[in-house]
Amino acid sequence: MVATDAPGSTDSIDFEAIKNLTTSETRAVDQLILDELSSDVVLINQMGHYIIGSGGKRLRPMLLLLAAKALGETSQHHLVMAAVIEFIHTATLLHDDVVDESDLRRGKDSANAVWGNAASVLVGDYLYSSAFEMMVRTDNMRVMEILSKTTTSIAEGEVLQLLNCNNPETSEEKYLQVITRKTAILFSAATRLAAVISKASPEIEDALAEYGQQLGVAFQLIDDALDYKASQEELGKNLGDDLAEGKPTLPLIYAIEHGTKAQAEVITNAIKQGSRNAFIEVYEIVKDTHAIEYTEKCADAAAQKAIDAITILPDSEYKTALQQLAHFSVQRDH
Ligand code: IPE
Ligand code: IPE
Ligand code: MG
Ligand code: MG
Repeated sequence: MVATDAPGSTDSIDFEAIKNLTTSETRAVDQLILDELSSDVVLINQMGHYIIGSGGKRLRPMLLLLAAKALGETSQHHLVMAAVIEFIHTATLLHDDVVDESDLRRGKDSANAVWGNAASVLVGDYLYSSAFEMMVRTDNMRVMEILSKTTTSIAEGEVLQLLNCNNPETSEEKYLQVITRKTAILFSAATRLAAVISKASPEIEDALAEYGQQLGVAFQLIDDALDYKASQEELGKNLGDDLAEGKPTLPLIYAIEHGTKAQAEVITNAIKQGSRNAFIEVYEIVKDTHAIEYTEKCADAAAQKAIDAITILPDSEYKTALQQLAHFSVQRDH
């Protein structure tokens, strides 16, 4: 069972137990994903099954399903939407690994490392298009509006991030803009869509959207912290990929502001250079300036906002699970 401590409690988050609350729905969503992946173009099948089959936490569909259950029954439309959201997420990962030149994803060689950049971009496009095909079948204008705004925002976030790359003067505010657009928006769409399909009141819809948004911010803040402190094996991604791309993420922005002049210079140069060479040195400065603790503190604050946003939902084990997942997003190590 999911721990039912007070929502603010950070003890005993059992991710597997939370997952078990949506086992049958998740199985149906996985089947929908597999059905939609089939194409007579062999490479699409191969790559699609490779990336989807290599796992991933399936956090976004889980949030959508838990939100739906917190509001009552789940319908076929919820299942389709959960699959659509995971398709969009997977498409962004295929594109993201090309842009970030990452060669490890979900503990395996990334698709671009196996098949090359061109194939990853094109199959990513295929997944986006499939997601839109599924979405159109729901014949619901609100759903289409939310999802198309979401994918536009993700693209904007990724382009904004590209513009910030190698720029050590990027502010915390600009960084927050990037993570809101590239990451939080999809979480927010997932939980908002649960409410839209359940025909919940506008108040509940906004509350769930705000929950997803804040959880998404917390999630990306921790992702950016993990790039400096995780165990690579647990994470299933390379550490230091952000530095290699010269990405001014919050741990670096904070370390520049709070380090000595010499420390700030090391980080500034590493961002400008965009290379892994200075990783150990940068890592030591990040540790020394408590930049990870600061990033985690910001993530904690966002997670708390997520929890507060859904106090208006009726009490249930699903609502508790959503609250626990906000904490999970901060405490996770992968
Ligand atoms: C990775 O997302 C991309 C980010 C937004 C940080 P996840 O950490 O949810 O990736 P998977 O699906 O579990 O592999
Ligand atoms: C998240 O950013 C990417 C998307 C939202 C597509 P990252 O580049 O940090 O994600 P990972 O670390 O590669 O999973
Ligand atoms: Mg990346
Ligand atoms: Mg990352």
